[in-house]
Amino acid sequence: MQVLKTIKELQEVRKNITGTVGFVPTMGALHNGHISLIKQARNENDVVIVSIFVNPTQFLPGEDLDAYPRKDEADKKICQMCKVDYVFMPEISTMYGNEEILIKAPNKSYILEGKTRPGHFDGVLRVVLKLFNLTQATNAYFGKKDAQQLSLIMQMVKDLFLPINIIPCEIIREDDGLALSSRNIYLDATQRKDALLISKSLYMAGSLIASGERNIKAVENKLYSIMQTLDVEYVAIVDREFNELKIIEPKNTIILVVARFGNTRLLDNIWL
Ligand code: PAF
Repeated sequence: MQVLKTIKELQEVRKNITGTVGFVPTMGALHNGHISLIKQARNENDVVIVSIFVNPTQFLPGEDLDAYPRKDEADKKICQMCKVDYVFMPEISTMYGNEEILIKAPNKSYILEGKTRPGHFDGVLRVVLKLFNLTQATNAYFGKKDAQQLSLIMQMVKDLFLPINIIPCEIIREDDGLALSSRNIYLDATQRKDALLISKSLYMAGSLIASGERNIKAVENKLYSIMQTLDVEYVAIVDREFNELKIIEPKNTIILVVARFGNTRLLDNIWL
């Protein structure tokens, strides 16, 4: 495995790669969720590139950019174990200069996650486009947990004719149902236990829909009743392109939940 730091190093390496390239973009602090993306990329491609870059442009002023967990050495070991070929770990000054061409995410990037984090998705799309251009990957792997991010990246690929396949990957959970996240480490024992109500509410909503319920309000009520002791920031029921739904559409519905535990926001969702 080779660790690449500069654009020149990555471009040199990329020039000499033949065959398919699987790319897993990350902000590091790798957990089993990332590992499953990397393993899938490893199974489906000749060469695997992982990027580890805590992207400052997707953090708003006052967010946890400085506190965001950084575990470079452990991350490199994990990549090595997963038989990654190249890890790209640039400095901020390598990725950003005085560029004037920016990416503007669409209006639907200002709802849900984008409402509490306005401008967040401009930063995500900006870095992801740069990384796609650098890696020229065949396939890029993204978790369904960040469903709005995934949908916007797919939209960017479609609108800008980017020659890359986006592969949506299943949410990885702890045995008790908690969706894996780099931010779970911020939870104390009580918060960690309370957080289980999020996945529980999503499963219960899933069963309600499986038993024939199509009414949005009824499903929302179910979710809120299970999470009544939590500080729920939002519950949303949307289609795969993040348009609001009038009724539940089987195979085209995503239910999203965000709840706050102190300063930690936990996201989870279920695709139905
Ligand atoms: O999902 C993430 O970790 C980040 O948003 C990404 C896609 C690596 C861009 O910085």
